Amino acid sequence: MSTPEWLESWSDEDGAQRVRALFAQVFGEDGGEPDGVWAAPGRVNLIGEHTDYNGGLALPTALPHRTYVALRHRDDDTVRLGSAQAPGTLWTASLADVAPGTVTGWGAYVAGVAWALGEAGHPVRGFDAVVDSCVPFGAGLSSSAALECAVAVALDETAGLGLAADDAGRATLVTACVRAENEIAGAPTGGMDQAASLRCTAEHALLVDSRPGLSALDSGTPVPFDLAPADLTMLVVDTRAEHALVDGQYAERRATCERAAALLGVKTLRDVDPDLLEETLAALAPHDADGVLRRRVRHVVTEIARTARFRDLVTDGRVAEVGPLMVASHVSLRDDYEVSARELDLVVDAALDAGALGARMTGGGFGGSAIALVRAAEVDAVVVAVQGAFDAAGLRAPGFLLAPPSAAAGRVA
Ligand code: GLA
Repeated sequence: MSTPEWLESWSDEDGAQRVRALFAQVFGEDGGEPDGVWAAPGRVNLIGEHTDYNGGLALPTALPHRTYVALRHRDDDTVRLGSAQAPGTLWTASLADVAPGTVTGWGAYVAGVAWALGEAGHPVRGFDAVVDSCVPFGAGLSSSAALECAVAVALDETAGLGLAADDAGRATLVTACVRAENEIAGAPTGGMDQAASLRCTAEHALLVDSRPGLSALDSGTPVPFDLAPADLTMLVVDTRAEHALVDGQYAERRATCERAAALLGVKTLRDVDPDLLEETLAALAPHDADGVLRRRVRHVVTEIARTARFRDLVTDGRVAEVGPLMVASHVSLRDDYEVSARELDLVVDAALDAGALGARMTGGGFGGSAIALVRAAEVDAVVVAVQGAFDAAGLRAPGFLLAPPSAAAGRVA
C-alpha cells in the first residue's frame, strides 16, 4: 500500500515568511516591503450542504489551513498580483476597469473584493500583493473564499475601514466577498464559505443561518465544537477528484431550487415546513414528470432539519451521537441532490467500515473532500482503510488533513 500523504497546515510564522519572501522577489525593485501580512482559513462544513442559497442552515468550522497575503497599498488604482501557485506571472488590472464580466483568472477573486467594497460605500485604492496558501486547491475546502477573505481583511486595514474589528463589520466583509465571487468571478455560490472564513472562532463551529432578512449578527452564531475532550477527531480526505464550481452543475442545482420555491410560492425553500414535506412534494408533482424537482427539494428540507438537530446534539454535549446525521446527509446528497462522486462514496464507505462514527462528503461536491468523525485512537486505521480502498480501485492517492476548529481571518504579521 502507498504511504498516506498528510496535508499539513503552516504556522502563521511560516506562512508570513513565505509571502514576505515572495513579495520581495516580485516587487523587489521598489523596496519589496509589504504593509503587512494577513491570512484567512479554508473551511470544512460539518453538515448543512447546498442549504445556504436556499435560506437554510450550515455548520462549518475554519481549517488550520490558511491563505496568506502580503499586501502594500498604492496611491493609484492599479492592482498587481503575484502568486506562488502561478510563478513568474503578474496579474494586473486597473480598479476603474473592474466590473461584472470584465476580468478573468484568479485575480478576479482579489480585484472583485476591492470592487465589492467600493460598491458597499467603502472605496479602496490599488495595491500590490502576493499570495501563497496551504489550503488544498479545488478540494471543496474553500480555497477561493480563503483568498477573498485574506484580501478583504488586508484591504480593510490598509484602507482604514475598521470593519474586521467586530462581528457586525465582519458580516459586511462577508457580503463583499460573496459579491466578488458571484458577480466578478462568476461563481453563483451561497455565503457559507465566506462567513466561515471571516467569522469562525477556534474550538467552535459557526451556525450560518442564511434566512433572508436576518440581521448580520443573527446570521452567524458560534457553537462550541471541541472534539478533543470527547477523544474524537474530524478527519478530512481530499479525494483529488476534480471539482469545479464555475461549471454548470452548481448553478443548475441552484436554479432548480429557485424554480421549486417559485412554484411553491415561498421566498426560499427554508420556508417549507419539514412536517409538511410530503404535502409539499405532492404539490410539485404536476410540474415534475421525472421527479428531479422533488428529490432536490427533499434534500434541502431534510438537510436543514438535520443541521438543526446536529447543532442541538452538539450543544447538549452529545457530539458522539451525530454520526447517523452525517451519514443521512451523505445519502441525501448522493441520491436526492446527486452531487456526490465515486471517490466521495468510496471514502464514506471505507471510513464507516473501518469504524468511523459518521462520514459524508463536504462542500459543493462533484469531487473534492469528504469528512469522517473518528475516535482518536482509530484515526490510523481509518486512514489505512481509505488509502487501501483507493489503491484497490486504482485511483490517485487521496490527501489527509486534520481539521481542529480554528480561527477566522486576520493580520498575522
Ligand atoms: C460551495 C459554495 C457554498 C455552498 C456549498 C454547498 O462550497 O461555495 O456556498 O453552497 O458549496 O453547501
